Amino acid sequence: MTDIDRAWWKEAVVYQIYPRSFKDSDGDGMGDIPGIIEKVDYLADLGVDCVWLNPVYESPGVDNGYDISDYRAIMDEFGTMADWEALRDALHERGIRLIMDLVVNHTSDEHAWFVDARSATDSEHRDYYWWREGRDPEQTTLDPDDYDTPIGVDEVPPNDWESFFGGPAWTYDDRTGEWYLHLFDERMPDLNWETPSLREDLFEMMEWWLDHGIDGFRMDVINLISKPEGLPDGEDPTAIVNGSDKFVNGPRVHEYLSELHDRVLAGTDSMTVGEMAELSIDEAKHYVGDDGDGMSMVFTFDHMRLDMTDAGRWSHRESSPRELKETMTHWQEGLADEGWNSLFLNNHDEPRQVSRFGDVEQYRRESAKLLATLLHTLRGTPYIYQGEELGMTNYPFESLDEIRDVDTIKNVRAAQESGRLDESDVMDLVRYRTRDNARTPMQWNDAEHAGFTDGDPWMPVNPNKENINAEDARDDPNSIWHYYRELIDLRSERDVVVYGDYELRLRDHESLWVYTRTLETDDERDSLLVVLNFASDETTFDPPTDLAGRDADVLVSNYDTAVDAVEATTLHPWEARVYDLH
Ligand code: NOJ
Repeated sequence: MTDIDRAWWKEAVVYQIYPRSFKDSDGDGMGDIPGIIEKVDYLADLGVDCVWLNPVYESPGVDNGYDISDYRAIMDEFGTMADWEALRDALHERGIRLIMDLVVNHTSDEHAWFVDARSATDSEHRDYYWWREGRDPEQTTLDPDDYDTPIGVDEVPPNDWESFFGGPAWTYDDRTGEWYLHLFDERMPDLNWETPSLREDLFEMMEWWLDHGIDGFRMDVINLISKPEGLPDGEDPTAIVNGSDKFVNGPRVHEYLSELHDRVLAGTDSMTVGEMAELSIDEAKHYVGDDGDGMSMVFTFDHMRLDMTDAGRWSHRESSPRELKETMTHWQEGLADEGWNSLFLNNHDEPRQVSRFGDVEQYRRESAKLLATLLHTLRGTPYIYQGEELGMTNYPFESLDEIRDVDTIKNVRAAQESGRLDESDVMDLVRYRTRDNARTPMQWNDAEHAGFTDGDPWMPVNPNKENINAEDARDDPNSIWHYYRELIDLRSERDVVVYGDYELRLRDHESLWVYTRTLETDDERDSLLVVLNFASDETTFDPPTDLAGRDADVLVSNYDTAVDAVEATTLHPWEARVYDLH
């Protein structure tokens, strides 16, 4: 390698803020933008380079802001546009960039476009959405009893697609006697990107946000925006939801995204990260590769599906550390020469990473640090989800009444109705899987409501705030929080952490994940060796012969470790070491 292909977003550590649960400033129990402003110094102290803000736009809140009713306004509960501008400035003054969530696969049903669209078949915005006539049940295998239609309407939907939130992806609208498509909740109708004026309106909206000084977009479910001609029934019985084999990476998606890039993003220094379900490496390259659509990176989910059975998200199987290693290595290797990875093990849609991949019972601190070591030393851009830097854990939900998340509620209901989920398994699965695990309030201190709000929090605070909170973590030099700072510093000090090649070693080991990162430039060769013991037991590390005996010291570790060479050793439970190879 001679030249490094640098980009700010490759070097950055991104911190994800779920505004509802981050910090409440006005006592209404819901986080808000002035609350985030109170905490920008916290972010600067942690050392992050960029904030990804989950949706703060005007929204009825069916899916906590992913149902947008006005793209150019801020939701009242979160504050005003002036508050948003103050946040942007406060971040930028501290050298922290800001990316916004771009939700353009669907809007809220309260968006002016949809209100107009549903008013008449010839309304101006009718074609901004997908409308179709229903089918005669006799001509299909669908059962009309499965659909909620008014008395006298003996129809089934235009196709058999299912919503990601459970149930059919079509709703009958009696105003115009047609059905509209929604891949999520029925109050979140899908936009029809085939309509040129819709695309133009969306592009203008993106330009408007860029003109307001943002640094890029996280693109929500962006590989769903193109639907195939004729909207055919699904054909793959193993698809994540019925029909996803037809509408994931649909036929015109690259055309749309290239157009979006050329029209809005080209020539700007912005980053884009596309959230993409069901993606292969070859397909990813069409989005982020050299001849791709110009996106910076993708969020992929193979590693988030390891603990599911073929029945999909609302199922659970034990997965092994080795499977995680293989899956993430597959992406490390697959995008080694082209494209760029996003590194995450949790976000606002997933349970807490230390609960899922670590050992919260015995080794919460150690395993949280090991997972952090992994995410900050693989090749790609690390994303920290709020509270991860404290080692926040899943919430001990006891009943479905405590769940706020539309996705959990609907999917559990659908699974129960179909008999797929046994009553006795329901709460175990919900506790394990629900997105609400990630949405309990940020734990700032051990006071009432963890310092999140003076009012009644919209979600319960995890009782473990007594031991897991930011104030204590910052006072304790050995905390997970300080460990994150160390890793973030290492990234900014050493190019090898960002740009080095990844090479997996001891591939077949069941619990050790061992790899080198190597960066060769004209002037130097810089190498790190990362050794991770993914187990609650001690494990012997026998270095590969070419590395054994090599002079090295340990740059970062979650145990007290000093060495002067790479040697065989017994690793503690969840021990992580980053060796500097000399
Ligand atoms: C993905 C988002 O991350 C999730 O929170 C949301 O429910 C769906 N997209 C629908 O917008």
